[in-house]
Amino acid sequence: MYLKVAKTWCIRLVPLVLLLISYYCFTFYVQSNGSTIKFPAPTKSLCEEWMGQGKKWESLNFTSITRKTDLFLKLEDFFWQQHLSTLALPYGIKGSESLLLKILAVTANYKMPSTIDNLECRTCVVIGNGFAIKNSSLGAAINKYDVVFRLNDGPVRGYEQDVGNKTTLRIFYPESAFYNPSLHNNPDTLLVLVPFKQQDLRWLKEILYNEKRVRKGFWKPPPQIWLAKPSQIRVLDPYFLHHTASKLLQIPLQQKGREKLFHPTTGILTVFMALNYCDVVHIAGFGYPKVKDQKQPIHYFGSSTMTAMKDSYHDLGREAQILRKLEEAGAILYLHAHS
Ligand SMILES: *[C@@H]1O[C@H](CO)[C@@H](O)[C@H](O)[C@H]1NC(C)=O
Ligand SMILES: *[C@@H]1O[C@H](CO)[C@@H](O)[C@H](O)[C@H]1NC(C)=O
Ligand SMILES: *[C@@H]1O[C@H](CO)[C@@H](O)[C@H](O)[C@H]1NC(C)=O
Repeated sequence: MYLKVAKTWCIRLVPLVLLLISYYCFTFYVQSNGSTIKFPAPTKSLCEEWMGQGKKWESLNFTSITRKTDLFLKLEDFFWQQHLSTLALPYGIKGSESLLLKILAVTANYKMPSTIDNLECRTCVVIGNGFAIKNSSLGAAINKYDVVFRLNDGPVRGYEQDVGNKTTLRIFYPESAFYNPSLHNNPDTLLVLVPFKQQDLRWLKEILYNEKRVRKGFWKPPPQIWLAKPSQIRVLDPYFLHHTASKLLQIPLQQKGREKLFHPTTGILTVFMALNYCDVVHIAGFGYPKVKDQKQPIHYFGSSTMTAMKDSYHDLGREAQILRKLEEAGAILYLHAHS
């Protein structure tokens, strides 16, 4: 009798148990697949997944350079040791020491925010200014990375849906500076100057010391007034441009004969910085239209086309080839489809 009752109950329980199992399976399925995110979200598990793949930096096969996580020039370098630079700008500081001393004496800070520096694993995204990011709706995903790198004058206001609204670092040179950095940055964004030429350092010194501005020597007039807080200004160590050219792109550093001399774009430079500083490197908004396509816009903003790049001193073909190699090696991941 008791046995029979127990048996009946058992049979009645079976559907309930099955229901519970299928419910858990379903929720798990929804959590892992059902969201609209088509790419991995930057979480701790992403870090583990990427770290598990082996040593990212080592897989890049750079000979004779180790990972460098100090991105910015600091005053101590000038006081305590001879800076062993044999190259002039943009690849070294030879001849620019006194300008740099003055700048670094005022900006004083050369650090990344400690909340990021102290992370065990740093997830980063580099947002290029390319047309490919238009209508991507990547904004919310971009905001989740520990570090969001932005380039030059890539705007944020009005484009948040596609490019997000978080900017940890903005990499720029005087010709691409915003007169008012707070328009398209956050209050705590670090503004990282890439000195390509001495005039770039002079521009910054004149602003910091409120001296008479010298307008000569720029390919486009930089802002004469620049409302940046000195504590948020950083100067990128030319080490990074040097090694982007010599190790990553493997292009000549000095003019040989009549050959045109190329310099890396801010985009590929920032990817190299991120490979040094970060543990996870994702990118979006990279790539240029085909040179033949003169009508296709280059950027997600404005209306410039490849015509504007005609006389540029960049080897875009070489850069595209290197980005493809980095992607194939698993060192970087694009957040959107690309050619
Ligand atoms: C590094 O070398 C390995 C083995 O030769 C190769 O499979 C890999 O693609 C290289 N990585 C890069 C980034 O070129
Ligand atoms: C982006 O979306 C807008 C509005 O839906 C549309 O008019 C435009 O053509 C789209 N642009 C691209 C590049 O897909
Ligand atoms: C970004 O936008 C979100 C949603 O509009 C807002 O809550 C957040 O404060 C913004 N963050 C920054 C850094 O501007």
